[in-house]
Amino acid sequence: MSKVIGTSVNRKDGRAKVTGNATYAAEHQIPGLMYGYLVTATIANGRIRSMDIETAKRSPGVLAIFTHRNVPKIFKPANDWQASKISESRLPLSDDRIYYAGQIIGLVVADTLERARDAANLVQVECETQPPLIDTNKASYINQKDYEFQKGQLTKDNFATVVAGAAATLEATYTTEVELHSPLEPHAIIAHWHNADSVTIYEPTQWVVISQRTYADLLGIPREKVRVVTPYIGGSFGGKIFPWPHAILCTAVAREINRPLKVVVSRRQMTTNTGHRASTEQILRLAATSKSKLMAIEHIVKNATSTVENFVEPCTSIPPVMYSAPNLRLQQDLAVLNVPTPTYLRAPGENPGMWALESAMDELAWTLQIDPVQLRLLNETQAHQKTNLPFSAKYFAECLRVGAEQFGWSQRPKQPRAMTRNGLQIGWGMAAASFPCYRRAGTAKVRLLSDGTAHVLTAGNDIGTGTYTIVAMTAAEALGLPVEKVRVELGDSIMPDGGLAGGSSMAGSLMPAVNQACQDLLKQAKAKTATEAIAMLRQSGRAAIEVTASTTPNDKDKKFTFYSWGAHFCEVSVDEEIGRLQVTRWLSVINVGRILNAKTAASQIRGSVIMGIGQALMEECHFDPASGYPVVYDLATYHIPTHADIPRIEVVFVGEPDLNANSMGARGVGEIGITGVAAAIANAIYHATGKRLRSLPFTPDKLITQ
Ligand code: MOS
Repeated sequence: MSKVIGTSVNRKDGRAKVTGNATYAAEHQIPGLMYGYLVTATIANGRIRSMDIETAKRSPGVLAIFTHRNVPKIFKPANDWQASKISESRLPLSDDRIYYAGQIIGLVVADTLERARDAANLVQVECETQPPLIDTNKASYINQKDYEFQKGQLTKDNFATVVAGAAATLEATYTTEVELHSPLEPHAIIAHWHNADSVTIYEPTQWVVISQRTYADLLGIPREKVRVVTPYIGGSFGGKIFPWPHAILCTAVAREINRPLKVVVSRRQMTTNTGHRASTEQILRLAATSKSKLMAIEHIVKNATSTVENFVEPCTSIPPVMYSAPNLRLQQDLAVLNVPTPTYLRAPGENPGMWALESAMDELAWTLQIDPVQLRLLNETQAHQKTNLPFSAKYFAECLRVGAEQFGWSQRPKQPRAMTRNGLQIGWGMAAASFPCYRRAGTAKVRLLSDGTAHVLTAGNDIGTGTYTIVAMTAAEALGLPVEKVRVELGDSIMPDGGLAGGSSMAGSLMPAVNQACQDLLKQAKAKTATEAIAMLRQSGRAAIEVTASTTPNDKDKKFTFYSWGAHFCEVSVDEEIGRLQVTRWLSVINVGRILNAKTAASQIRGSVIMGIGQALMEECHFDPASGYPVVYDLATYHIPTHADIPRIEVVFVGEPDLNANSMGARGVGEIGITGVAAAIANAIYHATGKRLRSLPFTPDKLITQ
């Protein structure tokens, strides 16, 4: 029986963080450290005709300036998820071309940050400028065959024929804008070479070991000669998985100048140089019988990408896992623009995909005059529509039922515009949530010490989600020790490969390994509990017993599809005179298998819902069509929610441990919470006002009644 797992435990790293004792990448103190400042393009399409660096070079404290004319050698990585990968395929400074505004075109190195920045401003650049392509409608398209799927009779352009006789059909286009990650900790890196073929890199990365391999490939040295250190990350939502150009440049330049070098990306530079969520346009076609059974789903998605990286925002992953229909067609295209390179951002694909599908399902429910919860229950699929594999430990229907019950959904008026309060229109909305349970191999080392404590070491890390705490809880549970007796060290490539803190995969991949190492340790000590083993250590005079264990997803994989599930219910108020929207009530019912830490798991869902409310209400970054330059570029111009925007968020977990997924029965909890949030709000707005919003975000201009 669990004593620790499933309880609420405060963050192990909480004190270090609030007292400033947690050292972030840019804070490492290295003697002789030099500072790099990025020179960036002010045009979005063209060629550098000339760069005059003479004045900048003579500026005080400047050590060197690097441009495409003297960039140190950088090798190509394998660009494979399992081996080595960079975020933008084009290597920094590899030629004189400019593909997007803000692109890095140089690096100034000086003895202080201020002197480097000052000199960077003195670099004179002359460009041959071409008009940038910013408008998705004028873009060229690249079809993504890997994401295409057809089932039943649907082919391109025959939807109407296939669904002839349907009781209700829907065709609608849903759009999302570019969103920024906006982590508190900016992207930053320190590269410290010990000699020409050995380097220590301090950088926030979600995937320590792939980062290590990637830098090794880029720099042409064995991976054993690269150490990546990232014990703390000040927030990351997919933007810190693979190295970005500034970081690649920093490591190569540091070797060239033979000095430790730091590059911090400014908030403004982060808008263009460290990824964003791609804008999307999604067409959904649905048809249903008079019994409200889906006859067909067609989902046609395009997302914008840069000219230097084909980044797919795979929204088409959603329909096959949500609802069953005899006819299904998926199409995924890329629109290539002179915009910066997009990347993963909390539930890439699933987030915009659920926004579109869960809005469309609500629209269909109104047409069919059926309750939207009921429509979902009627059409839930028990198997993945592409592979026909059943879902493991699903409980989606339970999420819907518990949510409806606890929210009081049966009290919801059946007509729009039926509720008012203090002169405001009130509406209730709901939407489903879903996210895959990705599992990878994980490795952890556990040491049991004669002083009665345990020590867990792994290169897997904590991006703010609570990994330190659940590692300690898992070891405490397995060893029978109090959580306070377990010390955890994370995020250093000299420790065993702990996997990726992304795709919500860390909990389900690493905790089985921590658990296994503890079990193996007790077995090796021939002890039932840690107390017994500690007594033996003391008697024998040994300092510690240590065991390393790895776990990998097992054979049951081939029999199931692993996903997590949920349902959001919310209330909004709309002041139609001034277009003010407030989310006034929120309930999320989630099934992620076994809950490891009740407190941080609920916090993850709350954080995700808050991020979803931001996406729904205010987050958007646009590029000026004339210059291609972003018109928002910092936390003053890019709006994210504050306390006043957020109601109390109730989180309820349902379901059972998913023991097919892994020995801990736990599926990741990071990303699922954001899926469906924007749709639930749009659906509530419709209920409040009778107005259907299909373009995110729901800014006042879209809500105001003329
Ligand atoms: Mo997440 S977008 O995989 O960090």
